[in-house]
Amino acid sequence: MITQQKIEEHVERLGEMHPPVALGSVDRTINRPDVVRDRYGDVLEYLARVELEVDRNVLELLVLLPEVSEVDRFFYEDVWQPQEIQHGLILDRVQLDLGLPAAEPLMEIQMSMKVLGALAHIPAIQDIARLLYYLTGASTERQAVLAYNTLNKGLQELGEDALVNTVVTPIKRQEPGHFAFYQMSATSLIQHNVLSPWQLFLAREMRSFSYTLVGVNGRKRYLGDMGGVMVGLGLDTQLEAYAKEIGRLEARLLWAGRKGLEYPQYVLDALHDSLSMYRERGGLT
Ligand SMILES: [Fe+2]
Ligand SMILES: [Fe+2]
Repeated sequence: MITQQKIEEHVERLGEMHPPVALGSVDRTINRPDVVRDRYGDVLEYLARVELEVDRNVLELLVLLPEVSEVDRFFYEDVWQPQEIQHGLILDRVQLDLGLPAAEPLMEIQMSMKVLGALAHIPAIQDIARLLYYLTGASTERQAVLAYNTLNKGLQELGEDALVNTVVTPIKRQEPGHFAFYQMSATSLIQHNVLSPWQLFLAREMRSFSYTLVGVNGRKRYLGDMGGVMVGLGLDTQLEAYAKEIGRLEARLLWAGRKGLEYPQYVLDALHDSLSMYRERGGLT
């Protein structure tokens, strides 16, 4: 059983083991900026923007979970936000070093989030919002882990050791702990039967029509950009394997009734949508 205490200890450990990465620790040597820019410029741009959007994510969380629990607050305020904002600032500076424009994070809270936030004052809806929040966190953090792993391998092959050792490796080390927090929190809600069958039903419905990939923010442009990121990282040729990676947890927790389901269909659909948007417009804009 995953207890609140276990989750709290996990967060404490994360805070102790992973102080935010300092800008000053980055070695800004890039051997072949033009090659890195051509191959990974789009990926870096997307990741920098998403990381810098952490401050909006915090605002969304406060809208979504008006009665935020102490351990949730501990995580996002003391550990998560300070780590993610450094990821964003560091990647943004790499972008500038590559001669790319600075990231433009989207800071506006989506309407759908505000509506759910208004409803979340009803305790029964609050439970659903909390589960959806954890599942979204788990899915996006898993996407971050996979993106940084792939990016790191690519940069290694290019011989960009400074970027590998002082940018991507230190950043990617911090992402699995975020994933684990959301995974533990979601699992704990299910294990303790906090949601009744009708709440779980509603959670499945809402998840099915609102699932989006990391950083898409309900915008077509970002949806297409995400397709570009998948192509840039070579993930477009292994969509089902990717869907399994990012959808496994919720297949298990939310769709437990469907034996053998490796990922919910909406995860694979989102990947397809993103790729076709990218291809339709003929690449990144
Ligand atoms: Fe991050
Ligand atoms: Fe993260």
